[in-house]
Amino acid sequence: KESTAQESYKRYKDLITTLPTQPWGPDGDDDDLHQYHGFWFHRLPLEGIMAARDHFVARPSDIFLVTFPKSGTTWLKALTFAMVNRNHADVVGPNHPLSMLSKLNPHECVPFLSYLYFEGRLPDLDSLPAPRLFSAHVPFSLLPKSVLTSGCRIVYLCRDPKDNFVSLWHHIFARAPRDLSHHSLDEFFELFCSGVSMGGPIWDHALDYWRESLRRPERVMFMKYEQLKGDTGGCLKRLAEFIGCPFSEEEEREGKVEEIVGMCSFERLSGLEVNKHGRFGSVKNQTFFRRGEVGDWKSHLTPEMAERLDRITEEKLRGSGLEF
Ligand code: A3P
Repeated sequence: KESTAQESYKRYKDLITTLPTQPWGPDGDDDDLHQYHGFWFHRLPLEGIMAARDHFVARPSDIFLVTFPKSGTTWLKALTFAMVNRNHADVVGPNHPLSMLSKLNPHECVPFLSYLYFEGRLPDLDSLPAPRLFSAHVPFSLLPKSVLTSGCRIVYLCRDPKDNFVSLWHHIFARAPRDLSHHSLDEFFELFCSGVSMGGPIWDHALDYWRESLRRPERVMFMKYEQLKGDTGGCLKRLAEFIGCPFSEEEEREGKVEEIVGMCSFERLSGLEVNKHGRFGSVKNQTFFRRGEVGDWKSHLTPEMAERLDRITEEKLRGSGLEF
């Protein structure tokens, strides 16, 4: 197995050196993006995407949380993890999934598939209990084939590109040693508008899942961050029905929906010790919780920038039925 892994990853690395490359972000070469099948990725997650496509075997009971980076991944993970595990047998023990959500960052509760397939690893995921919960930023066209054929469920989350852009910019430059200068925002904005950002172009990413959610609504559920903010409980109930574990009338009467919404609120999660001081890989957990608001772009983009991004979004999505 080790030699298979080595051979596979060597192939991915060689292939990546032949792809169009674009400097991006403050970390030099490590932040270069590579364009693969029309989308831009950092090298390591791209290797993971390639490895998962070749080696991951999906099960019908798997649940995939797919998001555009900075669209609310952390929140969706917390909500889904709590909802799926709400009736776990070990109700009060320290290893109960809901206790875990108080001790772990949501990214530790629901792993990114491309981090499981990381740096030469081919993980053994067979022993994980059903339903297995995975997350990914991968475009629809690059999902592992077996995800499409196994009939597992995909929940997709995206966000108004203006807020998504601002969140992404803060996230990337929070790692930078220098201050957030306006110059870097402008440069980064130009690249974003031309489709260059991790996982970008954002419009193609969202559109492919949108179309698939119309074609196969029983398999792909499409959500927007704005809807989740506007009616978190309603979205959570829809999510539970989609995944096949709807809240019973009794659970609703007992306030189970509100309990989970509260457990995963921005205020509660961002106040936990693990999220104030812990890290997820090279990233400080606190960077996953910034403002958590709709419309924060108004504090960062000029009216001209906002208009331009809106115009591009309108052009790209025209005729699809998808709007922000
Ligand atoms: P802002 O930067 O606009 O504040 P991701 O999880 O995909 O990295 O997305 C991060 C964005 O989701 C950040 O947006 C973050 O503040 C917001 N977020 C994180 N947890 C949240 C929660 N529980 N409720 C609402 N928004 C949340």
